[in-house]
Amino acid sequence: MNATRRTPARPSHRPERTEVLRLPDGRDLWLRPVHPADAGPIAGAFELLGEDEVRRRYLHPVKALSADYLLQLVRPHAGEAFAVVAAEPLPPGEALVGALARLNRDPGQDTAEFAILVSHFVAGQGLGKALMGRLVEWARAHGIRRIWGEVLDDNTAMIQLAQSLGFERDTSPESPNLLRITLDLDPAPRPRR
Ligand SMILES: CC(C)(COP(=O)(O)OP(=O)(O)OC[C@H]1O[C@@H](n2cnc3c(N)ncnc32)[C@H](O)[C@@H]1OP(=O)(O)O)[C@@H](O)C(=O)NCCC(=O)NCCS
Repeated sequence: MNATRRTPARPSHRPERTEVLRLPDGRDLWLRPVHPADAGPIAGAFELLGEDEVRRRYLHPVKALSADYLLQLVRPHAGEAFAVVAAEPLPPGEALVGALARLNRDPGQDTAEFAILVSHFVAGQGLGKALMGRLVEWARAHGIRRIWGEVLDDNTAMIQLAQSLGFERDTSPESPNLLRITLDLDPAPRPRR
């Protein structure tokens, strides 16, 4: 099942836009760029995740998110990184964050590594697809030609999601139980005059 998007009065196609999503379970969420004030809610949400979700996202067990890591996550360097959240329709800092996806440009390259986590509270409702779509838009708008990520080879949900978006998969140079999934991006179509 997929989230439905509400078209704003004045549509904007900037990857940094805020979009209202109605989930199939009736919840409304804002899909918007991460904000520095999200650090607390993200740390709080992490506490509620299951071990398996954390392992699938970070590829190994993680007990807590460090302050440095959180700072980097909520203050992505302009043009070099991007992070998008699905959060309650409240101001950043007050809003619970249910899902997050981020993209980091490989230094000096036209490639970027993604990572995503949709918490089990809101999973299976199209958020993964919506967040990945936003990363792809941002990548295209910033001259990135390929996005990639490392996925545990038993992570059926991510493998299926990636396949539905056209990612290729290969063995990872990092470890035999990881797959590297990559998506080559065509340049964004030029707007017609
Ligand atoms: C993988 C993940 C991002 C999917 O998020 P989601 O919001 O549940 O995904 P969506 O609802 O958008 O589903 C999109 C597609 O993914 C696939 N998918 C999602 N969950 C699935 C599951 N449990 N089993 C099989 N396929 C699944 C389906 O193809 C689905 O398309 P469909 O709805 O047309 O069938 C989420 O499960 C997650 O965060 N997992 C933990 C962290 C992680 O694995 N991160 C990846 C490594 S960085």
